Amino acid sequence: MSRVEIHGYAIVSDNDRIADATGHTPEVLRNDADWAYFQAELNRSDVTVLGRLGHEANPNPRNRVRIVLSSSSQGIERRVDGWWWNPQKLPWDEAIRRVLPHGGRVAVPGGRRVFDLFLGIGYDAFHLTRAEGVVVPDGIALFSQCDSGKSAETVLSDAGLKPGMRQVLDPSLPVSLVIWHR
Ligand SMILES: NC(=O)c1ccc[n+]([C@@H]2O[C@H](COP(=O)([O-])OP(=O)(O)OC[C@H]3O[C@@H](n4cnc5c(N)ncnc54)[C@H](OP(=O)(O)O)[C@@H]3O)[C@@H](O)[C@H]2O)c1
Repeated sequence: MSRVEIHGYAIVSDNDRIADATGHTPEVLRNDADWAYFQAELNRSDVTVLGRLGHEANPNPRNRVRIVLSSSSQGIERRVDGWWWNPQKLPWDEAIRRVLPHGGRVAVPGGRRVFDLFLGIGYDAFHLTRAEGVVVPDGIALFSQCDSGKSAETVLSDAGLKPGMRQVLDPSLPVSLVIWHR
C-alpha cells in the first residue's frame, strides 16, 4: 500500500486529561491558538479519524473527510456524513486502503479509546499540546495507561516516539506544544 502517515492531536491538562469527569471538554482546555494550529493541521490532512461522540459533537462545516469509529459499523461503510469504521470487524490496513487507496496523511483527534487504538497501530507523530498549570480532577485520560500512573510522555516514549522542542502557542497560560516523532 502507498504510504499512510498517522498524526495524533490532543490538548491536555498537567495531569494528562482530555476531558472532565462528565466526558466534556472543560473551558480550561479550550484555547484559540491551539484551535488555530489544529485547524491548520487538519487542512494538511487527507482524513480525520475520530470517535462517534466527537463526530456528533463537532460539526464539519468544511466537509473534511472523516472516518468515524463506531461499533454500529459492519466494517467500513460510506454514509452521508463520512466513512464509519468498526476496528473489531475490519483491520486498519484494510479500512484505510478503502478510504485512501493512494496513501496520505491521517489526523487522529481522539477520544481516549481512539488514542489507545492508534498506539497499537502506530503514530508517526503525536502533537501534544499542554495547558500548563491546569489540573482537571477525575477527568478522562489521554491514554488509559495514564490512569495507572504513566505520564503521557512515558506512554509516547514507550510507543517509540521522541520529543521535539517545546513551542509556546499562547504565552498567557502558557499553552505549549511538543511534537513527538517516530
Ligand atoms: N482535549 C482533547 O484533545 C480531546 C480530544 C478528543 C476528545 N476530547 C473530548 O473527549 C470527549 C469525547 O471523547 P470520548 O472518548 O468520550 O468519545 P469519542 O472517542 O469521541 O467517542 C466514543 C465512541 O466512539 C466509538 N469508538 C471509540 N473507539 C472505538 C473502538 N475501538 N471500536 C469501536 N467503536 C469505538 C464508540 O461508538 P459507539 O458507541 O457507536 O460504538 C464510542 O462510544 C469529548 O468531550 C471531547 O471533546 C478531547
